Amino acid sequence: MPARPITSRRSVLRGAAVTSVAGLGAAACKAPGGAATAEATPTAPVDLGAESEVAAGGARFYREHNVVVSRSATGVLKAYSTVCTHAGCPINKLQGTTLVCPCHGSEFDAVTGKVVRSPATEPLNELPVRASNGRIVAGPGA
Ligand code: FES
Repeated sequence: MPARPITSRRSVLRGAAVTSVAGLGAAACKAPGGAATAEATPTAPVDLGAESEVAAGGARFYREHNVVVSRSATGVLKAYSTVCTHAGCPINKLQGTTLVCPCHGSEFDAVTGKVVRSPATEPLNELPVRASNGRIVAGPGA
């Protein structure tokens, strides 16, 4: 009868370490090309630029702040975080008024924040936004 393999404490610990690293890999989503994706949306009001940069019916992507601002046909401004609600990757592309996530292909409507293509199921997080002295300011407290 063959001897039953005995798992040493060391091999158990090694296995736990590998699991831990793999877990981090899944949580820390990376964009194609390997760029780290630790960006976040503003935690305070941020001056994004001239109000005239966002046309009625259009959207402008402030990638460095992970914010998109859109304006309805009637002139109402909306702002959303562009951190993907699927697994937290920063979205890096705006095509017309559609935001495209590089990680798994989710797409969002920049005017409503709604998902237009899975795997994301939750809409983008809306941020307070206002126009002040011809400038767009967005973020908590705006
Ligand atoms: Fe998966 Fe954006 S993080 S689609």
